[in-house]
Amino acid sequence: MTQYAGSLEQAPKTILDLQAMKQTGEKISCLTAYDAAFSTLFSRAGVDVLLVGDSLGMVVQGHSSTLPVTMQDMLYHTQLVSRGNNGAFIIADLPFMSTSSHLEAAKNAALLIQQGTAQMVKLEGARVETIQFMVQQGIPVCAHLGLLPQSINQLGKYSVQGKSSAAAKQLLQEAIAVEAAGAQLLILECIPATLAKEISQTLKIPVIGIGAGIDCDGQVLVAYDMLGLNLGQQAKFTKNFMHESGSIFNAVLAFVEEVKAGTFPSLEESYQ
Ligand code: KIV
Repeated sequence: MTQYAGSLEQAPKTILDLQAMKQTGEKISCLTAYDAAFSTLFSRAGVDVLLVGDSLGMVVQGHSSTLPVTMQDMLYHTQLVSRGNNGAFIIADLPFMSTSSHLEAAKNAALLIQQGTAQMVKLEGARVETIQFMVQQGIPVCAHLGLLPQSINQLGKYSVQGKSSAAAKQLLQEAIAVEAAGAQLLILECIPATLAKEISQTLKIPVIGIGAGIDCDGQVLVAYDMLGLNLGQQAKFTKNFMHESGSIFNAVLAFVEEVKAGTFPSLEESYQ
């Protein structure tokens, strides 16, 4: 197998490590991964969490949204990522309509955990009762609030959420509710930095942001965006780490370094 210069052997990360990082203030680095090659490279560069995101529908499969992604797709890609992993914590997305009942959600989560060897599953929205049910079955859950790509046809466009004071108040309440339901992690997507700060400081569980400012407990990016593989228009919150890096491995090292140092995202990469 290829040996990467400076590559790290990571001791396998667990939820306890992520909780400890919140306690000590060490920022959590997270990238999406969809296959074994990137999984090996990212985990060896020291990325703490690999998210097998349903964004694969857009960046790998070429769809215009995440809606066509199936459980079969998610299981296949989770297995690839698990195979290449070197100790990072793996979260797998539950795709559109895979959680339409509590039982279906739990059964699909079990597939990603048993056959995909994911350590946690992520579902979009303040699905408090579904989360409670899954947690009762022993399933570790990451909640996802803010911009919900699976709701694109209800939203009409991908845009910043939680801007009005009423919307901000509702998001804060939803975050408190998903934590109370037993979620052990929260991803916040595309919300004002001040609101993400308030949510991160209010919750005991680690909060990982994408387009949610510098004050979250960690940062996640879609790997294809931060590697400049996406030729379309870039969202304000993404950064191309390939500029000035010379190699994918160095770009990922730079991402981890900037997340840990608290220098990414900058004000320009955040919503106010
Ligand atoms: O699917 C995905 O990549 C995600 C991130 C945008 C958080 O859910």
